[in-house]
Amino acid sequence: MSTPPRGKSRLTVPQFVSRKAEGKKLTVLTAYDYPMASLVDQAGIDAILVGDTLSMVVQGHDSTIPVTLDEMIYHAEMVTRAVSSALVIVDMPFPSNLLGVYEAIRNAGRILKETGAQAVKLEGGADQAEVISGLVNAGIPVMAHIGLRPQLVHQMGGYRVQRDRERLIYDAKSAADAGAFSIVLECIPQDDAAEITKMLDIPTIGIGAGKSCDGQVLVLNDMIGLTEGHVPKFVKQYANVRQTVSDAVRQFCKDVQSGEFPDQTHSFR
Ligand code: KIV
Repeated sequence: MSTPPRGKSRLTVPQFVSRKAEGKKLTVLTAYDYPMASLVDQAGIDAILVGDTLSMVVQGHDSTIPVTLDEMIYHAEMVTRAVSSALVIVDMPFPSNLLGVYEAIRNAGRILKETGAQAVKLEGGADQAEVISGLVNAGIPVMAHIGLRPQLVHQMGGYRVQRDRERLIYDAKSAADAGAFSIVLECIPQDDAAEITKMLDIPTIGIGAGKSCDGQVLVLNDMIGLTEGHVPKFVKQYANVRQTVSDAVRQFCKDVQSGEFPDQTHSFR
């Protein structure tokens, strides 16, 4: 079997950006491993984010703080191996972008070199402008992330809608001026997201930021019903994978215990 050259026909960063001017909404989902990334890619998503939510939805931590750069790289490499059409973006985990421009370039450089991803995402706006422009000058495309910043959970004391309009606008403008190619707007009032989207030439990608954004992102595990327990209000659940897997496992146990499985069709003569 011949394999297409890795990443040769993936959506590029300039193509992603030009969707805004073309008036085409952008679709983004997270993925953290080969099977899910290949499913999401083949279903026609524009971009796959290897998010630091990996820490919570894959590793089982209660925040995004614990995941390490090496772990992000390990998972991102599985994802890029599976993806042939979508743009692949990898989150810079805490605190890999917070130790100065030099360290940020070294860390983001490792992500691009070792995974084959095309861009990084980092949490920050005005406070990260210098880092964003340092990365962009080094040839590393950056998606910024403003509004609710889960890596600041301890400082914020929880996950809440961010309502400081002046701050949001300042952060968005600073990230764009620093050279970010796109900005995630997380958990902000829809009117503020609409104003920011109108103000910027680069695409805004909303999560809990209303329908005016240029695109939408969700955590895959939340939207397919794989996450256990509470999911945020902004998540629309499109499938119930937990239920499907649980039903299959229960049926397998029953069949083995009753002697229904394996039957002749699943046995050899
Ligand atoms: O890490 C992540 O999955 C994210 C999305 C929620 C945007 O940052």
